[in-house]
Amino acid sequence: MKKVSVRTLKNLKDNGEKISMLTAYDYSTAKYLDEAGIDVILIGDSLAMTALGYESTNSIGGEEMSIFTKAVARGVKRAMVVTDMPFMSYTIDIPSALKNIGNMVKFGANAVKLEGCNDYIEKLIECTINMGVPVMGHIGFTPQSQNVIGGHFIQGKTEEAAQELLKQAKKLEKAGVFSIVLEMTPENVAKMITENVSVPVISCGAGRFCDGFVMVCDDCFGKFSDFTPKFARKYADMKSLILNCAKQFNEDVKSGVYPNENEVY
Ligand code: KIV
Repeated sequence: MKKVSVRTLKNLKDNGEKISMLTAYDYSTAKYLDEAGIDVILIGDSLAMTALGYESTNSIGGEEMSIFTKAVARGVKRAMVVTDMPFMSYTIDIPSALKNIGNMVKFGANAVKLEGCNDYIEKLIECTINMGVPVMGHIGFTPQSQNVIGGHFIQGKTEEAAQELLKQAKKLEKAGVFSIVLEMTPENVAKMITENVSVPVISCGAGRFCDGFVMVCDDCFGKFSDFTPKFARKYADMKSLILNCAKQFNEDVKSGVYPNENEVY
């Protein structure tokens, strides 16, 4: 079994084959996603909400992300493991950013994802790659900047904003990213960007015409129900499954049906 690498992803784009990416936060989920053939497994900082119950991604720190990175990496053999660098872990200065990024690789990540595009991020991408760590970019709606943006809004809606996104994608490509997540843009804008950069563009609510698609695993499995983005497709109803299992167990315990004679030592 060949490990998915930056070259694998580039070849998929060049051959017109799609890239699948799901988030995972724990060992057994990561193991199953890997077994299912998912190309990229992201320890997304969305786990701040889905796994830890915080209100936004900005509440999670490097120490918490490192625990989830270790758990996921232990379950994966084939997929590329990418860790989202959390809020403030890479924006203070380059030396501390490189230290935090390097640690994620020591904990099992094969690459990191950095949000945004400005002179500092471009420089950091170059330094990170020089250190030996591949970088996935993330533009469009960038959740870590939601307070500056003023909420969750579709990005690139005007011609000017779409051109600015294309400019950012090209800058990230020049800085050396192996892939770019494009979040919440109109699909014609995502199509234009995808056709104009050589690296794979992964759609996160950016329509149908990108090189790959990412979803938060809890949305995909129907587990997280506090809110669901329009672009999420529920492939199962894990919330109901868990509720039904827990209710049944509760009833069985209360009525004395569990454990039975085969379930004892
Ligand atoms: O945190 C996350 O899960 C993400 C993806 C959905 C792209 O950044």
